[in-house]
Amino acid sequence: MKHVLITGGAGFIGSNFIQFILDSRPDLERLVNLDLLTYAGNLENLKAVERDSRYRFVKGDIRDRDLVERLFADYDFDTVVHFAAESHVDRSIVEPEVFLTTNIIGTQTLLDAAKRHWKQFPDDKYSRAYREGVRYLQVSTDEVYGALGETGLFCESTPLAPNSPYSASKASGDMIVRAYYQTYGLPANITRCSNNYGPYQFPEKLIPLMIHNAREDRPLPVYGDGMQIRDWLHVRDHCSAISAVLERGTAGEVYNIGGNNERANIEIIRLILRELGKPESLITYVKDRPGHDRRYAIDNTKITGELGWKPLYTFEQGMRETIQWYLTHADWIGRVISGDYRAYYQEMYGAIERP
Ligand code: NAD
Ligand code: DAU
Repeated sequence: MKHVLITGGAGFIGSNFIQFILDSRPDLERLVNLDLLTYAGNLENLKAVERDSRYRFVKGDIRDRDLVERLFADYDFDTVVHFAAESHVDRSIVEPEVFLTTNIIGTQTLLDAAKRHWKQFPDDKYSRAYREGVRYLQVSTDEVYGALGETGLFCESTPLAPNSPYSASKASGDMIVRAYYQTYGLPANITRCSNNYGPYQFPEKLIPLMIHNAREDRPLPVYGDGMQIRDWLHVRDHCSAISAVLERGTAGEVYNIGGNNERANIEIIRLILRELGKPESLITYVKDRPGHDRRYAIDNTKITGELGWKPLYTFEQGMRETIQWYLTHADWIGRVISGDYRAYYQEMYGAIERP
């Protein structure tokens, strides 16, 4: 892993990963971050690495074939870690189309470029020979498996049953990666992680949104009965898991990532209120998300057993640090909540904002 293409590196997980991999891999020579800077992309997240001579930022679209081809030719990537996506379920319900083009066509554009540049005999459709050491990693999500009932866990062989336009687009991306491995032998992995929390998450997602609203004494919008369950993992543990798959994963394999931290949404919201010393009267039950998945939970035995990965954060420690981070980075949130996000924020949450 010497020349790496990261897509979506200005977003929440991508920016944490760039920091993580530059810190942990001194042998890495070049890292290119290709990001369109949609509403979710924020270069402020990368201030700490801007001066690293190994790092380059390219503003551009993963659906732009000419650009992606040019980057492969210019930088001779041996590794692709594909984070770029439209990632918010609520937005996908309102505006599904961009989810399909970015999350499906964008993925295929990257796969095509990787195949063309990495295949030893690109004109031989029967050849499965690739350059030594190349790897494509698709950062996917547990949401592709759909929803669980009160018991059971998602394992890698659980059938895909996505329920939102977002998760359907991610599942489609996964299927294309699978097809490129099966048909062309492209050395690829898919990782499917549970819900992440930590620094630099866009404040439309549950945890930063609730911290921000609680801090400002605004109502906390709880969808439905608040008893939906998510399996939370600190973003740095997600980063170390991706790194483990890049180093030790077997080509063609899917790895689920999770830390056995199931929590009901309402529990998380109460924890945030407690930590901030705010009253539970801020909790405001609102209409449920359409098609809302009830429960996610990851069986992580494959990645822990086969690759020796394990999470380092306990949920309590991770949440305490995360809440502190958002409290001490109120200026970061302030700058994020502007422009496009502001209009969206009004549309989604305006009705229950203070007058
Ligand atoms: P995010 O929304 O914070 O960031 C997405 C990034 O992709 C942004 O920087 C955005 O500008 C960029 N982007 C969007 N469309 C693009 C395009 N067409 N071309 C280039 N760049 C584009 O997302 P995130 O929460 O950091 O998630 C990253 C990845 O991890 C996604 O693929 C998501 O499906 C997956 N994932 C997220 C979670 C989670 O809890 N957040 C959990 C599991 C998997
Ligand atoms: O499971 C992994 C997925 O986690 C990722 O693939 C997605 O990219 C990521 O956005 C996240 O999806 P969720 O839909 O689970 O995350 P979100 O933060 O939007 O919501 C978490 C839970 O909180 C969910 O049950 C909906 C609920 N919720 C969310 C918001 C924003 C509320 O009750 N109120 C809210 O205002």
